[in-house]
Amino acid sequence: MIEPIKTLTPDISRFDTFLDIARNRMTSREFRDEPIPDEHVEMILEAARHAPSGANAQPWHFIVVTKPELKKAIADYFVGEQRRRAKMKMKFPTPNYRGLETAPGLIVVVADFRFTRAFPVLNDGSDLDRQYQENAERILLQSVAAATMSAHLAAASLGYGVWWVTAVGQEDAQKALKPLLGIPDDLSVIDIMAFGKPSKAPYKRWKKALADIVSRDRFDMRNYMTPEQVEAWVREHRHKVMYRDESKID
Ligand SMILES: Cc1cc2nc3c(=O)[nH]c(=O)nc-3n(C[C@H](O)[C@H](O)[C@H](O)COP(=O)(O)O)c2cc1C
Repeated sequence: MIEPIKTLTPDISRFDTFLDIARNRMTSREFRDEPIPDEHVEMILEAARHAPSGANAQPWHFIVVTKPELKKAIADYFVGEQRRRAKMKMKFPTPNYRGLETAPGLIVVVADFRFTRAFPVLNDGSDLDRQYQENAERILLQSVAAATMSAHLAAASLGYGVWWVTAVGQEDAQKALKPLLGIPDDLSVIDIMAFGKPSKAPYKRWKKALADIVSRDRFDMRNYMTPEQVEAWVREHRHKVMYRDESKID
């Protein structure tokens, strides 16, 4: 039985606890070789289970990877992908995916895109249907992200560094990863969650200030970026904000 919240007076101490977890959830990409107790894995998954989802479809499945040879095979795929991207000169500042091999906690998040049917679609192949289908896909992605985020926050609350890996969307990645984990063909690997005690002290990355992301009643055009500004941001800032402590950004 879930205890109902007994009072309507906001309990600031609960918020403070929550914000401390949200603020201190930080990405780590290398972990100490210390096993995660099974009950922690269970607690993290329990948090994911309660996430909201469009039409309450819960279009997700979680595969807890425990075997070292599977972790190595997953890491090998990503290290290979890193080399392929470098050859294609994609210029994306790619991290070292070897860290996946030694992540004590590794959960592969699987999405069931067939559940876009649970959202409003016409299914008649019309142009209008295409628009609804696109939106249905967004609803599904947001749903799985909600569950993933719950799991990440739960892991952070237990003191773990977390790593959200999405470089798995391409067809090749699906073909490489699904057979490894016996995932049926009509499901998709959507992301991988790695977690554990960080091997290096985690650092806080740059976050936009509230004033830069919030408007009241009407979009504040001072926060609008032109396409050229977005391009310039990707060129000049992206690499700094991805891998640097916010206090060390010039
Ligand atoms: C949807 C999403 C996709 C991400 N994909 C990757 C990824 O493929 N590889 C990676 O190393 N980090 C990935 N990250 C981690 C981000 O790089 C990281 O969250 C960001 O730099 C902010 O740092 P923070 O998590 O410490 O706040 C992803 C995060 C999110 C939310």
